[in-house]
Amino acid sequence: MTKEELKRQLEIRRLKVEEAIKKYLPAEDTRPAIVHKAMHYSMEAGGKRIRPMLLLAAHEMFPSEVDPLPACVAIECLHTYSLIHDDLPCMDNSDLRRGKPTCHKQFDETMALLAGDALLTYSFELLASAYKDNPKVAAGLVLDLAEAGGSRKMIGGQVEDVLGEREGKMTPERLEFIHDNKTAALITAAVTMGIRLADDYSQQKLEIARRIGKNVGLAFQVIDDILDVTSDDATMGKTTGLDAANGKMTYVSLYGIDRSRQIAAELTEAAVADSKQLSKNSEFFEALITYMLNRIN
Ligand code: IPE
Ligand code: IPE
Ligand code: MG
Ligand code: MG
Ligand code: MG
Repeated sequence: MTKEELKRQLEIRRLKVEEAIKKYLPAEDTRPAIVHKAMHYSMEAGGKRIRPMLLLAAHEMFPSEVDPLPACVAIECLHTYSLIHDDLPCMDNSDLRRGKPTCHKQFDETMALLAGDALLTYSFELLASAYKDNPKVAAGLVLDLAEAGGSRKMIGGQVEDVLGEREGKMTPERLEFIHDNKTAALITAAVTMGIRLADDYSQQKLEIARRIGKNVGLAFQVIDDILDVTSDDATMGKTTGLDAANGKMTYVSLYGIDRSRQIAAELTEAAVADSKQLSKNSEFFEALITYMLNRIN
């Protein structure tokens, strides 16, 4: 797939996802309006929509009649909640997100905390309501998203990220745990949720999908660590340089930029090979994960 074609394909899907976000979130003027405004603000501030894209690409590998868009919105709600809370002064203390003031800067800390809570809960409400006619699909989606977002995965990764910063020491093993969980777990869920929409996936396919998600997700966070050093606020739409300022141990501080890039490339290569094994219809998926490796923001 050419670069131009991929750009076009991504744009088509991004517009669908943006539309679905507007459609499925409770309206801004729903009482109490302030929290719904804050939810819309962070959800619609921009963002690459990588997780919805991966979900759609996985769905395309295992096509079915089931509408993937509510699942796209649900995973983006959970992801956006994690960013709102990650930016709070008690966490990374960041002022800029998705090219705009962070939720707690635009509103206040209390509303940012509550908007995050509401987005987290709403992601599951949306899955349960949108897929109610298909209980097997609904249960699979809820399971994947809840596991990925829970204390043994995403929250566990965030906790060890904070502990690493507090203790000022990091081992390669702990850093891998952090990245696998704070980032790769939800990216894995995007892939498996896309497959869960089909009737005819096997446990073996789900296992391959999990391996792909883990590799793509780890590569994604390694690139995030690199861009935190090499990029700037305007390009990234978020405050850069914070990892170093917060004394955070990252792939860059542990291995340097060149080795980190090489690690991310190797992980992506493994994921591309697995994708070919997973489905004949993996062209868009492969193009997407290669684009994620070479992204500039
Ligand atoms: C940022 O995620 C947090 C990480 C896990 C690195 P994204 O880079 O996907 O952020 P948005 O959604 O595009 O804003
Ligand atoms: C955030 O990791 C991961 C989650 C929000 C779960 P980072 O702290 O590296 O993300 P950015 O750099 O602020 O986007
Ligand atoms: Mg963080
Ligand atoms: Mg952060
Ligand atoms: Mg980061």
